[in-house]
Amino acid sequence: MKNFPQSFPNTRMRRLRQTPWVRSLVAENTLTPADLVWAVFIHDGEGRVPVGSLPGIDRLSVEEAAKTAKRAESLGIPAIALFPYIGPEGKDEEGTGALDPDGLVPRALRAMKDAAPGVGLITDVALDAYTSHGHDGLLDPDGTIPNDATVERLVKQALAHAQAGADVVAPSDMMDGRIGAIREAFDEEGFTNMMILSYAAKYASGFYGPYRDAIGSAQALSGDKKTYQQDPANSDEALREVALDLAEGADMVMVKPGLPYLDIVQRVSSTFGVPTLAYQVSGEYAQIMAAAQNGWIDGDRVIMESLMCFKRAGASGIITYFAEKAAEVLNG
Ligand code: PBG
Repeated sequence: MKNFPQSFPNTRMRRLRQTPWVRSLVAENTLTPADLVWAVFIHDGEGRVPVGSLPGIDRLSVEEAAKTAKRAESLGIPAIALFPYIGPEGKDEEGTGALDPDGLVPRALRAMKDAAPGVGLITDVALDAYTSHGHDGLLDPDGTIPNDATVERLVKQALAHAQAGADVVAPSDMMDGRIGAIREAFDEEGFTNMMILSYAAKYASGFYGPYRDAIGSAQALSGDKKTYQQDPANSDEALREVALDLAEGADMVMVKPGLPYLDIVQRVSSTFGVPTLAYQVSGEYAQIMAAAQNGWIDGDRVIMESLMCFKRAGASGIITYFAEKAAEVLNG
C-alpha cells in the first residue's frame, strides 16, 4: 500500500480555508452576545455625559441605566457590570459613600432590576470611586493600605449591593482574604445564592487610565496601586491568587487587563477549569477607538477579532465597553 505522508502536497491546510461555509464548519471557537458583559458607568446626575477618554462611552443616569438594562436584554447580552462616577462632594478619606444602602449603585440596581429582571447585575466592590485619595482601600497616615480594616468595609459594601438586588459582586480591590470574608457575611445574612466574581488576577496596570477619568478617581489618586495589585512580571502568582479565591468561595474568577494578559487567561482557565472572565479594560478600548478614529485600523473588525481572541484563550466571558457594539454586529 502506498504511504500517504501527512505533509505537503497530500496535506494542504488552505483547503479548509477556501470558502466561508467550510471556515465556519471548522471554526474552533465562537463568539455570541451571550459571551459578553456590558461595562457601564453611572452617575448621579441627569441623562448621559460623555467620557472624554472613552469616545462613544457615556456616564448614565439611573434612568438611562434602566434603559440600558432593557437594551442588553433585547441584544441578548446576559449581564451588566456597573461602575459609579462619584463627584468630589461624594468622596471622603474612608470612602463612606461605598456603604450607603441608598447610594447611587443600590438605586441603579433597583431601577435596572425593575426594568429588566432577567439581566444579571454585577457590581464592583472596592472603595476607589468613593475615597478622596483614589485607593481601593483605606489609607493609613504612613501611606500604607491596611488590609483587614479595608476588608471590613468591603464586606459592608458587598452586603449593601446584595440587599439592593445585585446578582454578582465582583471585588476588584485585591485585598487578601476579602472573598472569604464576603462569603461568610453573605451566608450569615441569608444570601447563600449570591455569586462572587473575584478579580483574582488583577495587575497594577497603566491600561486603567481612562477608567480612572470615567469614575473621577484619576485626579484623586495619590501614588499607585502596586502594593495590592499584581506585578505585570508575574504569572505563577496569578495561579496562587486564583486558588486562594476559589478556596474562599469565589464562583467565577477574572483576569484583568485582557489582551496583554491572555497568557494568564489561558493558564487560569486550563489549570482550574472554572468560569474565567477576562476584562477588556478602558485603555484597551481607548487604543482601539483612537486608532479607528484616525482611520489607522478598521475599528469593527479589530473589536470583533479582539473579542474572539479572548474566547480562543479560554475565557468564558468578556467584560467589555464594546458589548453593545459587538452584540449589534453579531446580531446582524
Ligand atoms: C477598581 C477598578 C478599576 C477598574 C475596574 N475596577 C481600576 C483600578 O484598579 O484602578 C479598571 C477598569 C478599566 O480600566 O476599564 N476598583
